[in-house]
Amino acid sequence: MKYLRMPIEKESPEQLGYDLIRYNLTESSVRDRKISDLGFTLEDMTLFYGDHAGHPGLREKIACISGENVTPDEVLITAGAAGALFIIATSLLEQGDHLVVEKPNYSTNIETPRAIGADISFLDLVFEEGFALDTSRIASMIRPETKYVSLTSPHNPTGTVMTIDDLKNAIDLAEQKGCRLLVDETYREMTFGEPLPVAASLSKKAISVSSLSKTYGIPGIRTGWIVCRDPELMETLLSAKEQIGICGSVVDEEIAYRALLGREEWLKSNNLHISEAFSIIKDWMENQTEFQWVEPSGGVVCFPRISSGLNMDMDLFYRILNEKYGTYVGPGHWFEMPRRFMRVGYGWPHIPDLKEGLTNLTRAAREALK
Ligand SMILES: Cc1ncc(COP(=O)(O)O)c(C=O)c1O
Repeated sequence: MKYLRMPIEKESPEQLGYDLIRYNLTESSVRDRKISDLGFTLEDMTLFYGDHAGHPGLREKIACISGENVTPDEVLITAGAAGALFIIATSLLEQGDHLVVEKPNYSTNIETPRAIGADISFLDLVFEEGFALDTSRIASMIRPETKYVSLTSPHNPTGTVMTIDDLKNAIDLAEQKGCRLLVDETYREMTFGEPLPVAASLSKKAISVSSLSKTYGIPGIRTGWIVCRDPELMETLLSAKEQIGICGSVVDEEIAYRALLGREEWLKSNNLHISEAFSIIKDWMENQTEFQWVEPSGGVVCFPRISSGLNMDMDLFYRILNEKYGTYVGPGHWFEMPRRFMRVGYGWPHIPDLKEGLTNLTRAAREALK
């Protein structure tokens, strides 16, 4: 493995220091919650080694929300979705192995295969095509030796959501060609409207990944999961988890369990907050000319760019935005994309801060025009 720190992590708000950031539009989650918000305390917890696959009650809840045919044995709790992606990549790939990955993407989906020395074919998502997935292109990219195809939906950083036909086509391809399909569904419970089925519930060739970090606003517990209905692969994934850390943190898993007990109620209020924040960013987008976007259909991020035809000094833009206006977004290079693109997270800031942060984007863009 050849580990390199990813810009998105090196320059993340938690590494920079939250105190330095006045208007934080970098986050891809809703606002962080406290243990007391979940209505319980931890004082009486016994700190034993937990079930290696993860808290049985938690796995049962996740199986329930993953589809009628998914059982708790087909759920593996991991250290966040990031831990899940690491376990999957290191279990399925060796140096030189081929895979197909969407780009841009959440960096770990690309960087871990790269650290392994895998041979990556990028499935580029294009602004002019609405960042839409083209499954016919996947078909042409899969080789006899391809280990897996890696998709993310709702997508980070664009907020686009694949259609049910795309998902079914991708599954058919994996089944026909004998590779696996990984779907990173970390934002699934923040889809506007009905979410897609959990991919793993549709096929033994599909692997689904998700977590409590984004929708539930509790990234600090580092709890995510893998759903996979292939028992042989599950055994390998569990072996990887045991070698990394035996089991997960029982404290984290108990908190995760409590958060899911309050799921229905939480999702109602969370969805209300997300739709209010979304209407604010949509309104901003429609009333300025410096930025263009592909309107997202899920999650709490979008990936606008400086309008084509505008000549802008991008270094100056980010300097003004950060230093003069105390406003931060995720610059394009976090996603191996030109810095004219930027990820804007609209779900995390309080509403007045979101409004001011967006106004600051317009101000900085006007001041950085050449
Ligand atoms: C698509 C995607 N997958 C996985 C992760 C990792 O999330 P977690 O905090 O659950 O490890 C992220 C975080 O930004 C993400 O955007």
